[in-house]
Amino acid sequence: MAQIFHRSSNSLAKVSIAAALLTVGGIIWAAYRLNAGSFTTLVEVARDQPVPFSHKHHVADDGIDCRYCHTSVETSAVAGIPPTETCMTCHSQLWTNAEMLEPVRTSFQTGKSLEWTRVHDLPDFVYFNHSIHVNKGIGCSTCHGRVDKMPLMFKVNTLYMQWCVECHREPEKYVRPRDQVFNIAYEPPDDQMDLGQRLVAEYKIQKLTDCVTCHR
Ligand code: HEC
Ligand code: HEC
Ligand code: HEC
Ligand code: HEC
Ligand code: HEC
Repeated sequence: MAQIFHRSSNSLAKVSIAAALLTVGGIIWAAYRLNAGSFTTLVEVARDQPVPFSHKHHVADDGIDCRYCHTSVETSAVAGIPPTETCMTCHSQLWTNAEMLEPVRTSFQTGKSLEWTRVHDLPDFVYFNHSIHVNKGIGCSTCHGRVDKMPLMFKVNTLYMQWCVECHREPEKYVRPRDQVFNIAYEPPDDQMDLGQRLVAEYKIQKLTDCVTCHR
């Protein structure tokens, strides 16, 4: 019987199947790479929270200072997340029937803390300390962005080692006057390099790039 397909079409078919698989694989790989940014770093990804707490409302509209809730940011390694009691100083009188605040009232009654989803979370082998940054003139917004515009919290920086070290090498690019650390709308002036160099000298800022600074 005569062959319908020439002998060579067999290998031709194999080649085109392989090519098709490679193409599909390539597309999946490219799509993954494109997304890899926010998939793995979660930068700019707003996170679900047990209560949709809005920094935009509380900071921008109501004008509450960061330190009212993040009480230990100037004095310790951690900024601290406020206990339910802090919310209830206002919400025992304000919005007392709001459905949205039910988990807050339940937490207050039962004494069981709200379980906030962590947005910034360094690996355990990295040492970080808020108080030194705050006291040496690094503003909240340099690392956390405009939280006063965030209905739900997200990260604006990767928190990768590269990011930390970039500033540790050249702090003059980022330092601001100490009295501006909590000013969330602060914009660096045009002469940041002059100002930065002056402040680096005045605040005696060291360039800490040794591994043991952060890995101890
Ligand atoms: C009324 C209380 C309140 C005030 C005022 C407040 N925060 Fe918060 N903040 C919270 C609560 C509650 C959370 C945890 C829920 C969340 O992530 O939104 C939080 C979370 C954060 C986080 C993320 C924490 C994490 O999980 O990584 C950052 C960063 C932050 N706040 C910065 C600020 C800054 C900067 C200011 C001042 C401009 C400020 N906050 C003012 C209550 C407050
Ligand atoms: C200093 C007073 C004060 C404190 C402390 C406070 N709130 Fe509020 N909160 C308000 C006011 C005022 C509003 C009214 C909403 C607005 O500004 O639009 C509000 C509104 C809300 C709302 C309604 C949705 C929204 O954002 O508009 C939620 C949810 C909320 N607060 C959660 C919290 C939680 C959780 C805490 C504790 C971490 C907290 N609040 C602490 C004053 C406060
Ligand atoms: C030099 C960068 C930097 C500055 C400046 C900074 N933070 Fe942070 N913040 C971080 C990092 C990094 C983390 C995550 C820490 C971890 O996972 O151990 C964090 C975590 C937090 C958290 C979560 C709770 C905690 O303590 O881990 C809050 C709240 C917070 N920051 C608030 C603030 C406030 C308010 C300011 C300004 C007074 C501020 N931060 C200034 C880098 C910074
Ligand atoms: C925008 C600038 C900036 C960024 C970003 C930054 N730092 Fe710093 N860091 C500083 C400055 C300024 C100092 C103070 C240096 C000094 O002691 O004079 C400092 C000091 C420190 C110290 C010394 C604390 C001590 O007690 O000795 C540690 C640890 C540290 N940073 C860790 C980190 C880590 C980890 C990150 C990234 C997650 C980070 N920093 C990101 C500016 C920055
Ligand atoms: C200013 C703070 C800082 C300094 C200085 C620093 N690191 Fe890191 N390092 C980090 C942070 C934050 C991470 C975690 C985030 C990441 O993996 O990038 C990290 C992660 C790492 C990791 C794990 C990498 C990975 O992919 O998981 C290694 C290894 C490391 N550092 C080695 C070093 C060595 C070696 C030095 C000195 C040459 C050094 N680091 C200096 C902040 C620092």
